[in-house]
Amino acid sequence: MQFSHWSRALSLVLFGGASAALSFGCDAGPASGTGGGATSTATGTEAPPSDPDVAAGTAAINAGRDIFRHDTFGDEVFWGGALKMHRALEGKALGGFGPGVSPKTALAVGLKVDSEALPAEVVSGVKNGTIRLDDPATTVALLKLDAVVGAKVTMNADGTLKTIGFQCALCHSTVDDSFAPGIGKRLDGWANRDLNFGAIVNLSEDLTPLADALGVSQAAVRTVLASWGPGKYDAEVFLDGRAVRPDGKPGATLIPPAFGLAGVNQQTYTGWGSIPYWNAFVAVLEMHGQGNFFDSRLDDAAQFPVAAKNKLGHTTSKTDLVTSKLPALQAYQLALAAPPAPAGSFDVEAAGRGKSLFEVGAQCAMCHMGPAGTDAGWNMHTAEEIGIDDFQSSRAPSKAYRTTPLRGLWTHQKGGFYHDGRFATLLDVVNHYDTTQKLGLTSPQKSDLVEYLKSL
Ligand code: HEC
Ligand code: HEC
Repeated sequence: MQFSHWSRALSLVLFGGASAALSFGCDAGPASGTGGGATSTATGTEAPPSDPDVAAGTAAINAGRDIFRHDTFGDEVFWGGALKMHRALEGKALGGFGPGVSPKTALAVGLKVDSEALPAEVVSGVKNGTIRLDDPATTVALLKLDAVVGAKVTMNADGTLKTIGFQCALCHSTVDDSFAPGIGKRLDGWANRDLNFGAIVNLSEDLTPLADALGVSQAAVRTVLASWGPGKYDAEVFLDGRAVRPDGKPGATLIPPAFGLAGVNQQTYTGWGSIPYWNAFVAVLEMHGQGNFFDSRLDDAAQFPVAAKNKLGHTTSKTDLVTSKLPALQAYQLALAAPPAPAGSFDVEAAGRGKSLFEVGAQCAMCHMGPAGTDAGWNMHTAEEIGIDDFQSSRAPSKAYRTTPLRGLWTHQKGGFYHDGRFATLLDVVNHYDTTQKLGLTSPQKSDLVEYLKSL
């Protein structure tokens, strides 16, 4: 199917219903093999492996990538059904409510566009300016093309949006900006530190479901969502209702990468559990997908008043769209290696000196061990041990901090370091250790350590 220019393509997508959008999807070709540089063995470019175990592993990785990128686990029931987010995105002129969200606004709140899902006509339209990036209709068209990373819409017969759901890729993928800022090829596993999810959810005209769950007013929910800012989300507030730290700052944590996790025993900043544990937790309790989730630790009403009241640790669903997907999802995350630091992005000689400081002189490797850069086995750390407050650790069953894996640090320098981004730069982190652990590092030693951290 050929389209001479964008306006025709857009009107077909908008008013031609699902079939036109589908044929666009076919024109664009399947997006594959572009994520994070780590999945090259799964792209099918090599001869099929003869070992059946290897073949099964490859199939699981491929299936997992599809789930990571495209599965909503039926969470449309919440985001479209209860919060009506699709109506806020399309705006009143297209059948929704409010002004709608233009691509410019969408990019400004950190949503990313997968350039490989764009048909040639759209690519040239954006390039020559005939596609308007200040018009919510363009956002709707991009959503229908399945080009907005992490968001999936379904349409009514008349071409208006029926519902919307979100995917893992929303927070744990970004794009390489190869087409334009915010538009490019997918980079799976990379933390989207631009994404202002709180601001996006705040677009909903009715947050009653969240207000009811938390037992607070809608206005209070809006204040919390507005407090998070880019690159952050608060998974625990929906369990404990503690949105604000004692120092008045928001309780939200930075979105971590979902790559480089092979060999990492405990997931999340506070070690909630394994990959399949946390994936089920997120898919069911946070994304509001349809599935089962059990954790009797959430029955502790003193630590988790909201979860205990709503019996979140005993969530069952008639249709379970989550559990059967956990093995493949895990296989994919384990296959996502951290991308190597680009040549020239750090000083090789200084990094070499920093490595020996890291391993011996400054004793960083006592906790950041081996290739994964985290403790082997179970070795969680108290707040005092690492010289910070215990607000976030007190919100997890472990009541402790897990040693953050350090691979691919260079990919997420935006938003800062430590769970809440309290240290703006890697030098700030090194200075923190120097002070609290009384390391007595000289300035050149500190910068060597920083160069090493940038090389990981
Ligand atoms: C709204 C944003 C958001 C979405 C959607 C999301 N996550 Fe996360 N993810 C986070 C945040 C924030 C954390 C840190 C949580 C914490 O430590 O309390 C996290 C933590 C993780 C971790 C732990 C990484 C580590 O360092 O150990 C994994 C793995 C993960 N998410 C995978 C997923 C998968 C798989 C999905 C889809 C089922 C998903 N996430 C959906 C925001 C998100
Ligand atoms: C006692 C164990 C321990 C030692 C020793 C240690 N770390 Fe850490 N490190 C941690 C923990 C726990 C965290 C997570 C803190 C948080 O998120 O609040 C962390 C976080 C970090 C981070 C932030 C990662 C991110 O993505 O936010 C960096 C960088 C880091 N450490 C570097 C170092 C360096 C360099 C040294 C040596 C000077 C060192 N660490 C020594 C336990 C340790």
